[in-house]
Amino acid sequence: MLRFQTAGESHGQTLMAIVSGLPAGVRVDFDFINRDLKRRQGGYGRGGRMKIESDTAQLLSGVRHGQTIGSPITLQIENRDWTNWKEAMAVEDHPETRAKYRPLSPPRPGHADLAGCLKFNFREARYVLERASARETAARVACGALAKLFLKEFGTEIASHVLAVGRVALDCDNIPFERILALRDREDIRMNCVDPATEEKMMREVDRATEARDTLGGTFEVIAHAVPPGLGSLAQWDERLDGQLAQAVMSIQAVKGVEIGSGIENSARLGSEVHDEIGYDRRISRFTRKSNRAGGLEGGITNGEDVVVRGYLKPISTLRRPLESVDFESKETVKAAYERSDVCVVPAAGVVGEAMVALVLAGAFLAKFGGDSLEETRRNFNAYAEQVKRF
Ligand SMILES: Cc1cc2nc3c(=O)[nH]c(=O)nc-3n(C[C@H](O)[C@H](O)[C@H](O)COP(=O)(O)O)c2cc1C
Repeated sequence: MLRFQTAGESHGQTLMAIVSGLPAGVRVDFDFINRDLKRRQGGYGRGGRMKIESDTAQLLSGVRHGQTIGSPITLQIENRDWTNWKEAMAVEDHPETRAKYRPLSPPRPGHADLAGCLKFNFREARYVLERASARETAARVACGALAKLFLKEFGTEIASHVLAVGRVALDCDNIPFERILALRDREDIRMNCVDPATEEKMMREVDRATEARDTLGGTFEVIAHAVPPGLGSLAQWDERLDGQLAQAVMSIQAVKGVEIGSGIENSARLGSEVHDEIGYDRRISRFTRKSNRAGGLEGGITNGEDVVVRGYLKPISTLRRPLESVDFESKETVKAAYERSDVCVVPAAGVVGEAMVALVLAGAFLAKFGGDSLEETRRNFNAYAEQVKRF
């Protein structure tokens, strides 16, 4: 079973993750992992923190001579900003320095501050925001890059792009996967949009929000290309792959809606306008579709088409023009706290989406094909591919 967990606070010393369940023999491309980490840091509308960090993953276990060895993989990403927070975030208790730090309050509407403080019984949001913060997603992206490297062994590639930022939306369908994949090689992720004119408009939308001391949300789309049919299951509710993907993408900070294919638009249409008609190409012995509105999933199982998952983000909740909140002590109405923050994170959230989709698909892949070594997984995969071809 493929599992992963992350640990670490936003301004703590380091982020850590443990990934277990990857078979032995997967080649680890360190540059590939670090490129994804860099992509997650980028995007127009990010705050000052990302200028301080330069994320690189150190692999501390589970890899030998550039290959996985089947034991748990430990990853570490150091927080450079930690040097500025050593005292504020000290693990040991030093009462004399503790008093120097202004508590982060009043709680910000939309952030985890109030719910987290009530839950853990803290009167300062720092305790809860440090873990709620999406800095944690750097660890997820490193884990996801390992899952991507595993899936690549079987020809599956994963990419993302931005569909909308605030009110600016990309107005084109059926974008070839190669065009979306090519965005990955850009030096600067910008808005991660395939259309330069729309990308420019998205950046101006961010400028307007920044000038108004406000924030933005938007929509990203993750596409997994060349996914074998038959991953996931219809047998039990929690084995349905669409449900697992929805949970994984919804767990990304600020994502408040998840869509498979064009699921939301489909709900307002007739069945005859929605369902992807089935054909068969004898030359390649493969079932074909004229469209992919189902986003590659039917009955909670992959159907051989691209898996398409969209994430909808709410606007960032830390505002330079703070909304109303309540002082924890006096219970009076006051303005919410502000601290250095991003204005728009949709491109970065898309990179995190890629990681989450990769981890879910790699998990489903291993659940179906198993294998303790890549060679064994490949044998099982090839036998199944042959069965599908001869169907
Ligand atoms: C890549 C990324 C970066 C983020 N940066 C910020 C930020 O700088 N300031 C902020 O208030 N929220 C930021 N968020 C969103 C918060 O982490 C999130 O709103 C908060 O943890 C509450 O969780 P929820 O929105 O899922 O309910 C970011 C989210 C992502 C995906």
